[in-house]
Amino acid sequence: MSQSITHVLDLINQRTSIRKFKPMLLSGDDKKQITKASFSAPTTQFRQAGSVIEVSDPKIKQQLAEICGQSYVANNGLLLVFIADEYRNIAIAKEQNQEHFMYKKPISLINAIVDTSLMAQNASLASDSLNIGSVYLGSILNDTQKVIDLLKLPKYTFPLFAMAFGYPDDKPDIKPKLDDTNRLFENSYDTNHINSINFDTYDKKVKDYYDSRDSHNRNDSFITQIAQGGHLIQGKRLDIAKILSNQGFDWQ
Ligand SMILES: Cc1cc2nc3c(=O)[nH]c(=O)nc-3n(C[C@H](O)[C@H](O)[C@H](O)COP(=O)(O)O)c2cc1C
Repeated sequence: MSQSITHVLDLINQRTSIRKFKPMLLSGDDKKQITKASFSAPTTQFRQAGSVIEVSDPKIKQQLAEICGQSYVANNGLLLVFIADEYRNIAIAKEQNQEHFMYKKPISLINAIVDTSLMAQNASLASDSLNIGSVYLGSILNDTQKVIDLLKLPKYTFPLFAMAFGYPDDKPDIKPKLDDTNRLFENSYDTNHINSINFDTYDKKVKDYYDSRDSHNRNDSFITQIAQGGHLIQGKRLDIAKILSNQGFDWQ
């Protein structure tokens, strides 16, 4: 295997979320590389249905940090919010006097979510390649409407998550992931196999990982986290269907 291929695989397989950054902004060059990688991602039907908002205003950063309840949303070298975005495409279609019904279908939102997620993961890997750390921030969904208002998001857009970047001030262990035994099937899904797996060994690995983590140490395990559903089912996150509909993503 060539050195550059090994390097890419190492970047992918050794990646961890970074939540503690040195107190300095990213250089203009680094920022450019990250956004360029983001916009180079593959895209469904060439719709490029994702956009990025860089939040440089410290006041907005602080407001987002309060929504997220995470200090590293304010303390980082770059904060990007990834927006599932059909506004641009609809504007282009309107300009051409085309009635544009597609955005009213669930498929439009699925496409935009996939496009935007691919953009984000490209950005994350690009940052790793520059020795810059990052963490996804789904916690902006703690109060999606407030994020929409703060960022002045128009109809046919939705803030999926943010991502904080920065020069790392932490070197967390790699978080153990489920592997081939649990997630890889051949030709068809095997419910018997899944139902027969004992997750205790993996659970212990995850518990040990949390116990030994230097920063953001917590007493948690895999099974408890998954079974309880945690933050997914709390507070304003329950309003998301309504907000999607207000943003123009009406299911029909
Ligand atoms: C869509 C998405 C949203 C996430 N939201 C948050 C978040 O709000 N805060 C946070 O600290 N980590 C967040 N994460 C990071 C995950 O907690 C992390 O990826 C996972 O625990 C695995 O750890 P690793 O990235 O170090 O491998 C998010 C990850 C994804 C993909």
